Amino acid sequence: MDQVNGSVVTEFVLLGLAHSLGMQLLLFLFFSLFYVGIILGNLFILFIVVFDPLLQSPMYILLANLSLIDLGLSSTTIPRMISDLFSDYKVISFQSCMVQIFFIHVMGGVEMVLLIAMAYDRYTAICKPLHYLTIMNPRMCTFLVVFAWVIGVIHAVTQFVFVVNLPFCGPNNIGSFYCDFPRVIKLACTTALKNAERVLVLVVFNFRFMKSFKNCN
Ligand SMILES: *[C@@H]1O[C@H](CO)[C@@H](O)[C@H](O)[C@H]1NC(C)=O
Repeated sequence: MDQVNGSVVTEFVLLGLAHSLGMQLLLFLFFSLFYVGIILGNLFILFIVVFDPLLQSPMYILLANLSLIDLGLSSTTIPRMISDLFSDYKVISFQSCMVQIFFIHVMGGVEMVLLIAMAYDRYTAICKPLHYLTIMNPRMCTFLVVFAWVIGVIHAVTQFVFVVNLPFCGPNNIGSFYCDFPRVIKLACTTALKNAERVLVLVVFNFRFMKSFKNCN
């Protein structure tokens, strides 16, 4: 056991993706290229929708909001990952790790609800064309965007309060290039958590077993 009693983890080590220099260079080029593409592409969409008076329909306004979220979501992880590629000491402080987790989940949640809202917008336009303008009015559009943010924040906060109070005392290596719930929860040093995990695995396993049993008949 590499668990030290009484010590508190103040930083995590991101193990990253590659250890050989060749692979690091390849990943650096690959991710830098894609990151620049993401930034320019989304800025382009934002710019057109904001400044083109013909694109002020709900579809494009939701699209611009989605681009904004995409910009934020990729900026929480990728720049840090790219700069970590060539540093030998890939540590992230506990606070930064929590901030990263929080923002990933806020924006991930908003993105999901926005995509649903965009699907609803197209559904209304295709299946209820005569009612479209009264259903998807500007107020509805604003409501959907605000609703997406509220859901995103609730989604992140509920998981966040659970993780931020966990005691961390043992190993602090995160086998990835960014902080996320499943990986951080694995490092918590509570026996209660381990037990809960075991029960969950047991339930899932039994469920699968019963399902395969049913399929045989
Ligand atoms: C996002 O949606 C809101 C509400 O409809 C709108 O006022 C705002 O302009 C949109 N954001 C962008 C960047 O288009």
